[in-house]
Amino acid sequence: MSVSVLNSVAVREVRIGLLGCGGVGQAIVQALTTSDDRLAEAGLSLTCVAALVRDPSGPRAVSDVPLTNDPDAWSRYECDVVVEVLGGIEPARTLVARTLSAGIPVVTANKSLMAAHGVELQALAAAHGTSLYFEASVLAGVPCVNTLARRPLASGRGAWAGIVNGTSHFILSEMTRGRSFDGALAEAVARGYAEPSSDADVSGRDAAEKLTILLHLAGHTDVATADLPRRGIEGLETWHLEFARRLGGVIKPVALADTGHDAGCWVGPAFVPASHPFAQVEGVTNILSIGRGASAVLFSGPGAGADVTALTVLDDVVEAMAGRGPVNQLAPEVLVPAAHRLREPRTGAWCLALDCVTSNAGELAEFLAANHLPAIALASEGSRHAVLTATATYAALIAAVDAIEASGVRVTWWPVVEVAHG
Ligand SMILES: NC(=O)c1ccc[n+]([C@@H]2O[C@H](COP(=O)([O-])OP(=O)(O)OC[C@H]3O[C@@H](n4cnc5c(N)ncnc54)[C@H](OP(=O)(O)O)[C@@H]3O)[C@@H](O)[C@H]2O)c1
Repeated sequence: MSVSVLNSVAVREVRIGLLGCGGVGQAIVQALTTSDDRLAEAGLSLTCVAALVRDPSGPRAVSDVPLTNDPDAWSRYECDVVVEVLGGIEPARTLVARTLSAGIPVVTANKSLMAAHGVELQALAAAHGTSLYFEASVLAGVPCVNTLARRPLASGRGAWAGIVNGTSHFILSEMTRGRSFDGALAEAVARGYAEPSSDADVSGRDAAEKLTILLHLAGHTDVATADLPRRGIEGLETWHLEFARRLGGVIKPVALADTGHDAGCWVGPAFVPASHPFAQVEGVTNILSIGRGASAVLFSGPGAGADVTALTVLDDVVEAMAGRGPVNQLAPEVLVPAAHRLREPRTGAWCLALDCVTSNAGELAEFLAANHLPAIALASEGSRHAVLTATATYAALIAAVDAIEASGVRVTWWPVVEVAHG
């Protein structure tokens, strides 16, 4: 790193080694030019010295960065900070570990890497006197990670609830307007919100990885993404969303975790009452609530998009160069085991959609009451019914659902997101 003087302000020349130059990587290179005035105000002049890619001859919107597909050749470029936007686990994990071991800070937007190996990589960074920054890995355009890391008391703990995947949120928002799942997914791909292979978004894996990162930040470093119960949105049908509306709510793709007295977790579609703040946001917007009731804090904004992600990454580069390391939340003394308490959804109200029912609404309500799952609201049309239940344990829900399905009825269920969560 060298220092020059611009308009009598000392400007540090910072060399970035880029791992990946796809959607986000190219947006970062472009943002270096469009944001250079703001960066100069922060006393920095940033340059990408090299980028590792899979295919250097592939088409790219940027031309002024040397490209290589050889990790050893990439490593020979000297840099002050590394930005990792490769995605996936390998070679990202090996290259990030090698960089941190050399005492060089790393900024990443890679949620898969952070969810699976963030704990060990942060420990490695600390052992080598450097830091790993990952603000863009959760709600990329909303600065929540560093805020939570710096404000462990004010930010509240113990309960997380969010809509943290923009693609699945867009799809369900479209389905609420009567569109089929396939039609809504095709629209998401056409608008660039979803990759043609959108499995991580639709299956809930992306949301579960983000929830894992948030749980790690709170000291629950024993939690692995595979521990968290999840269901994708692909089984939803348009009538499910219409019946949810008749019951006074909307189906949203959520990530919920509670490590308090009544612990539990759910990643997948859930019934959100119309009065809940989550019901007010639509499309690709993300929202995250941390804490309970009056002490909950709420973050909302764009969760993805190459341009907003690039700016968040560059903010982290500025943090790294200012030496503002994230508060180390992952020291062994803050480890609070929680994985064993997050393997099932918590006790609460449930929403059930039942298809091919031969009994009438009254008989159905009687059956549910006899099976310890009393209905408090019911919407019916022909052989289809939707039910909101009173509070019941997950075990009571599953026992009742099994009893209903034994009579040939198709049942889909979702947890109800409590208004107090917002
Ligand atoms: N896109 C968003 O809105 C967004 C938002 C938040 C976080 N993120 C995260 O940011 C990261 C990057 O996302 P993206 O959308 O930019 O992905 P992308 O468009 O697929 O770009 C990935 C880049 O990494 C390179 N690459 C991948 N595997 C490689 C390998 N084995 N060896 C060498 N180079 C390799 C690719 O090379 P080629 O170009 O030659 O194929 C490409 O340049 C991901 O972790 C993603 O989850 C993305």
